[in-house]
Amino acid sequence: NTQIVKVDIQHLEKDIDKIQAAGNIIMEGGLIAFPTETVYGLGADGLKKEGSSKIYEAKGRPSDNPLIIHISRIQDLEEIVLEMPGKAKELAKAFWPGPLTMVFKKSKRVPYETTGGLETVAVRMPNHPVALALIEHGGGYIAAPSANTSGKPSPTLASHVADDLNGKIDMILDGGPVGIGIESTILDMTTVPPIILRPGFITKNMIEEVIGSVEIDPVVLGDTSQDFKPKAPGMKYKHYAPKADLIILEGNMEHVISKINQLIVEKTEQNMKVGVIGTDETISFYTGGQVKSIGSREDEETIARRLYRILREFDKLDIDVIYSESFSTPQMGQAIMNRLLKAAGHQILNVKGV
Ligand code: TXA
Ligand code: MG
Repeated sequence: NTQIVKVDIQHLEKDIDKIQAAGNIIMEGGLIAFPTETVYGLGADGLKKEGSSKIYEAKGRPSDNPLIIHISRIQDLEEIVLEMPGKAKELAKAFWPGPLTMVFKKSKRVPYETTGGLETVAVRMPNHPVALALIEHGGGYIAAPSANTSGKPSPTLASHVADDLNGKIDMILDGGPVGIGIESTILDMTTVPPIILRPGFITKNMIEEVIGSVEIDPVVLGDTSQDFKPKAPGMKYKHYAPKADLIILEGNMEHVISKINQLIVEKTEQNMKVGVIGTDETISFYTGGQVKSIGSREDEETIARRLYRILREFDKLDIDVIYSESFSTPQMGQAIMNRLLKAAGHQILNVKGV
């Protein structure tokens, strides 16, 4: 069975024996879930093929989807990459430890099991005391995807990890709720200019202030201009998904609210359980269903932090269909909407009034 071990992130020195034990499990080929500043990760020794293979099995993840190697010291990067572009050094200096993952050409030390068969490797140094200590005590190179069952929302609490992976992994280090709540920004450093493959807390602007112009992979943001009809069921892209059908409504806020209220009536008549993701500013206007506020529209960091948690809460309530407002906030809006769109399988309703 899976041990759940609480660690006090304010006084980690008192819990260092627990981290050491977890590090030993990693080096002996086991799996440890641990908190990072973004989401909980599921760690194994990233330089051993058996470690990575176990991760895929526990998550039910296709083994061609590569893992991120987590390090605790910048100099450890040399061991696992073929070359380190000058721009990457500048970015590491600016953002590590922190929620930026960079993709490099891999060295021979990194097994193909970790990179999903690719010649490149994704690396980041997380900004979390438990993660950094575990990496140090676990051999220095921890491969870790998000610690959820493949396809489900990423875990932002230790209990989310237990819900998905209890009995399948050796230990969960419980360091409390994570800070950011959505996964790191991924930047491919093997191309000129570098390309953002996944948006996150570190934005394009923040990166460009350090190294100049970068691009964004066009698949990052789904096309939101479609009128009313859900996009082709791009199930291949359905990730982070709750059990319920999730539909995002866009448009003028008043129109969105009255459309959702109309849908609540319709679906309730069909005996469906309806969930609504609203904000502090709007929840009082909804007239039925299970309404949850994701936070204030003015506070995008809270919106990001609560997104996955709300999706999991609706799962526990056995909701059939969730309607969500959209959150194109100034800094993290791109990252938030990227996750929400994937969770919704790109189902967007553009509301022009009812
Ligand atoms: O914040 C995070 O990045 C969290 C925490 C635990 O660090 N980790 C995380 O891992 O989100 P995961 O496996 O859930 O997502 C990693 C993403 C995947 O979409 C994968 O395809 C991509 O990174 N990736 C990994 N290696 C890559 C590579 N060599 N080239 C391109 N994409 C890569
Ligand atoms: Mg993931």
